[in-house]
Amino acid sequence: MSLLEIREVSHYFGGLRAVYNLNLKLEGGELMGLIGPNGAGKTTVFNLVSGFYTPTEGEVLFLGQSLAGLRPHQVTARGMARTFQNIRLWNSLTVFENLCLSQHYHLGYGLLGAILRTRRFTENERRIRKTAQQLLEILGLSHYADELPKNLPYGMQRRVEIGRALSLHPRLLLLDEPAAGMNPSEVDQLIDLVRWIREEFKLTIWLIEHQMRVVMNLCEIIKVLDFGETIAEGAPVEVQQNPRVVQAYLGDEEDSHA
Ligand SMILES: Nc1ncnc2c1ncn2[C@@H]1O[C@H](COP(=O)(O)OP(=O)(O)O)[C@@H](O)[C@H]1O
Ligand SMILES: [Mg+2]
Repeated sequence: MSLLEIREVSHYFGGLRAVYNLNLKLEGGELMGLIGPNGAGKTTVFNLVSGFYTPTEGEVLFLGQSLAGLRPHQVTARGMARTFQNIRLWNSLTVFENLCLSQHYHLGYGLLGAILRTRRFTENERRIRKTAQQLLEILGLSHYADELPKNLPYGMQRRVEIGRALSLHPRLLLLDEPAAGMNPSEVDQLIDLVRWIREEFKLTIWLIEHQMRVVMNLCEIIKVLDFGETIAEGAPVEVQQNPRVVQAYLGDEEDSHA
């Protein structure tokens, strides 16, 4: 059984076909890349997989079970966590509080438990704070625990987002352009970090990334989308030499220089 399976998924926004007949099997332990020019449908695929969108056609299976009809938090509860292309953190809370609140939502023991300070609440509370503390250390963020995320360098904000996802103890981690907006040294650190958390947390990772250096360094297998369709899938070297991929990216370059 694959960890994640996408079966003939298509998605339309009104008349726009954003994803067409997508198939995928992701096995436990893999580190896969999802690449393609801007607008290829990559983020839409993540939104379909993580319960933010319902596929127009087809289905997504996680651990052999269909995710049809599940809300994002229910998908998370099954063991899938993600980060967003545009960082989404609670900006009025500190970094430490961000890593606690994500877990509160996840555990959901209810308002009454919090008011009455039940034993379960107190125990959960202790566990939550411990996990947050550990994540801060692991991610090299201890120094920023009491800062607001917006006051952190960009690379560090991305780390907090990865920490927020990890705080949910996922088996599958989806990263949407984790290196976006990072400077070269932050990118190097990110590559090391992703590799390390995968080993440490025994995670399966699926990563969207625009920076080829990141993808080629990290991924064992890469899926390439163009206009919502898979145009290539394989090892980094194969994909890099695939004429359809080269063509798709040249088109993208021309657009961006137009
Ligand atoms: N919520 C939405 N409503 C309408 N169109 C959308 C929406 N989200 C994405 N699109 C369109 O779907 C296509 C794929 O977008 P997206 O998945 O964000 O691409 P990528 O992440 O590969 O850059 C684009 O043409 C985009 O404009
Ligand atoms: Mg995107």
